Amino acid sequence: MGKKGIFIVIEGLDGSGKTTQATLLEKKLEKNYKVLLTAEPSRCKIGTFIRESYLYEDKRLPTEAEALLFAADRIEHMYKEVKPALDVEKLVICDRYVYSSLAYQGSAGLSLEWIKTINARALQPDFSIFIDVSPERVIERLQRKKSVMETLETQKKVREVYLKFVEKGELVRIDGDKPKGVVAENLYAKVLGLLKDAKGFVA
Ligand SMILES: Nc1ncnc2c1ncn2[C@@H]1O[C@H](COP(=O)(O)OP(=O)(O)OP(=O)(O)O)[C@@H](O)[C@H]1O
Ligand SMILES: [Mg+2]
Repeated sequence: MGKKGIFIVIEGLDGSGKTTQATLLEKKLEKNYKVLLTAEPSRCKIGTFIRESYLYEDKRLPTEAEALLFAADRIEHMYKEVKPALDVEKLVICDRYVYSSLAYQGSAGLSLEWIKTINARALQPDFSIFIDVSPERVIERLQRKKSVMETLETQKKVREVYLKFVEKGELVRIDGDKPKGVVAENLYAKVLGLLKDAKGFVA
């Protein structure tokens, strides 16, 4: 696909600090790199539809339909925002990506193979980070921000799927149970190490 930039994905449970850390990482990296910080569901057409349907329980769709919509949004987002940024050598940080589909729709009962199949055309990230926070801790953090995805049992199942990919070496784990600034430093050090390994990306 002629990719020139670097594509970094941040994953984790609801309330694990993805948006906090993605924003802190952007601030640190933009001193030396051109950065695009973006997120899923995207602000494109399908992503906007998804975000609206998640606001109300009675608007939720069957899990298969949700998985297909997330995959469709990923493709729209890729062509409209991610790929154009990579083409001009930007470092793209994306808050959630394919591993969110695997973890959430996978733990809701869909086969990981089918989720991978419907996402086969999505661009492969250069590295994917998992901010690991215990399910009990995220529930505590999210007390004020309730949604249908946030029961302890759900969070535990979602984390199990993420951890499988950590074991396989597809996700790089960062301890997210520490104070924000400490997590940010550890994440930055990890990303700099990964960038050093990625040819041509030393600032
Ligand atoms: N390391 C941390 N220690 C304590 N609180 C934190 C930490 N990181 C984030 N928080 C707080 O936890 C809450 C959730 O953080 P944030 O919105 O970054 O998580 P998220 O993973 O993006 O959540 P969501 O999946 O809902 O988008 C916020 O109130 C944030 O200030
Ligand atoms: Mg967030």
